[in-house]
Amino acid sequence: MREFLLSKQGQHPLDKDLIFLLEDIATSCRVISHQIRGGAFAGQLGATDSTNVQGETQKQLDVIANEVFVRHCSNCNRVAALVSEEVDEVYWLKARPQPGDYLVYFDPLDGSSNLDVNLSVGSIFSISQLPSAIDASDDRSVLLAGSAQICAGYSVYGPSTSLVITTGSGVNGFTHQQGTGEFRLTFPDMVIPETTSEFAINASRYTLWEPPVRRYYDECIAGTNGPRGKTFNMRWTASMVAEVHRILTRGGVFLYPEDAGNADAGGKLRLMYEANPMALIVEQAGGAATTGSDRILDLQPSSHHQRVPVILGSREEVDVLNRYHRDA
Ligand code: AHG
Ligand code: MN
Ligand code: MN
Repeated sequence: MREFLLSKQGQHPLDKDLIFLLEDIATSCRVISHQIRGGAFAGQLGATDSTNVQGETQKQLDVIANEVFVRHCSNCNRVAALVSEEVDEVYWLKARPQPGDYLVYFDPLDGSSNLDVNLSVGSIFSISQLPSAIDASDDRSVLLAGSAQICAGYSVYGPSTSLVITTGSGVNGFTHQQGTGEFRLTFPDMVIPETTSEFAINASRYTLWEPPVRRYYDECIAGTNGPRGKTFNMRWTASMVAEVHRILTRGGVFLYPEDAGNADAGGKLRLMYEANPMALIVEQAGGAATTGSDRILDLQPSSHHQRVPVILGSREEVDVLNRYHRDA
């Protein structure tokens, strides 16, 4: 992976500190993958007694994965602060953050309800840079729009462990090689097909959805005789990382809309460490990511655990969904 990161990425070579940070994140993913695969031996499956700031019961591996990320991301002396799904406050590492210092946002374990049933889970991360020198105690300084991200990625802990990264000039996928421990470039220049006939949504929430989402779903399942005139396939893995990885591999559209059950919270998925990094990856692979009305990367965050509606994937389907939201 280092050789790849050292090669020219876009207009400029990557900053050495960013390369070190990405290597530390890759190490975190390798360690988390190992912890998950050995979870049953170590008695690490199952829940803890605690809830996180989201009000969700933490799995033991949520807590372990968070500790792994914090430990490895703290190695880089250019990291000013960490924002984790599992930690209420912003974790400031530098007393006097400087312009250009890194802010690292992460969901240490995504889809953790899949752990106990041995299905795919993942980690998601996003990196931005502080635009100016600030007072470390000011948590509002981490509220940067997704368009400010200089890098985003995720790791899927599936049949193999993959690491998918963008530094703003395309998307590249690496696979962890057992034995050597290397992440090797196996999926260069990942592109999302513009057209698809596969969608992913938690359809058990049908009665809670807004009319545009119901319309889209109804038209998809109406098949060849419906207004879309073709058969659609449906998937739901309950892990956004696994859904996005499938979409990067063979196309598709993923929806977690705002509905009557999550409207008070603003949606289900978190903007800064789920929606933003996935939106950057999806756009860099030629897809689109919106709330139904706004481009995700343009949203100005109001809090670091803010939730948002998410629609992402193949451009044509995201356009259809945007249009249905406009029509409504
Ligand atoms: P997390 O495990 O980090 O809390 O995230 C789970 C998210 C996302 O990965 C997935 O798409 C969605 O929640 C699953 O939601 P349902 O439980 O409604 O299926
Ligand atoms: Mn998540
Ligand atoms: Mn999580």
